[in-house]
Amino acid sequence: MCRPDYFDVTYCINPWMDPEAPVDRALALLQWETLRATYEEYGHKVDVVPGVPGLPDMVFAANGGLVVGDRAMSARFTHVQRAAEGPAYHNWFAQHGLAGLVDAKEVNEGEGDFLLVGDRMLAGMGFRSSLAAHREVAQHFSRPVLSLELVDPRFYHLDTVLLPLDDNTIAYFPPAFSAESQAVLAELFPDAIVATDADAEVLGLNGVSDGLNVFLSDKAVALSEALRARGYNPIGIDMSELLKAGGSVKCCTLEIHE
Ligand code: ARG
Repeated sequence: MCRPDYFDVTYCINPWMDPEAPVDRALALLQWETLRATYEEYGHKVDVVPGVPGLPDMVFAANGGLVVGDRAMSARFTHVQRAAEGPAYHNWFAQHGLAGLVDAKEVNEGEGDFLLVGDRMLAGMGFRSSLAAHREVAQHFSRPVLSLELVDPRFYHLDTVLLPLDDNTIAYFPPAFSAESQAVLAELFPDAIVATDADAEVLGLNGVSDGLNVFLSDKAVALSEALRARGYNPIGIDMSELLKAGGSVKCCTLEIHE
């Protein structure tokens, strides 16, 4: 995770961001600290990457890269405003001895668009990460990558509409995908939890699951109920300030997959 010491909304690269609307950084910090403390309370280890002045979106650590087993890749951003985050995360990865580290050559926004469900890597395209990046990831991580097309600009990253719950189960919001990708997902995950419009509109799917506990926005009411009914333990967190930049729980979290 990356502390939101320099968090702000000073430019607009997704429909959630309004540079005219005030941001309460102290509140953002408090919400972020609560998320971090909650992870630790549930037994997860959190490393903190220092923020960089002038990079207001760096708090969204999920976009910094991909770490799976003995391979890692740092991100290459779509927008110039975030470009310097790629090297910043790369340096942190290198300093912390992550094995098999390379820079992405293609446009690749890390775990924003690349999500593991068990051994299967799902990848989003259409707004940020490119199809060429999907191929590059498949090669570097030596695993098949399933490409999915996003079609709604509000849901510009895969992690805004698809939440891996355990090795075989996801929750997702079908209307955010092309008809073809919807068909692929329906076939692959017949018992997925299908999120409501209201859940998607508060970025409720932008959560993190450890297989039992699911950390997600406290505004995702129907999704939390559906999770509980299926035996998961939803843990709601208030992420209202970070939502002003178009991010929630998952965006703030880069997972280290063993
Ligand atoms: N303002 C950031 C952007 O538009 C938000 C990134 C959210 N991160 C995520 N993993 N979906 O790039």
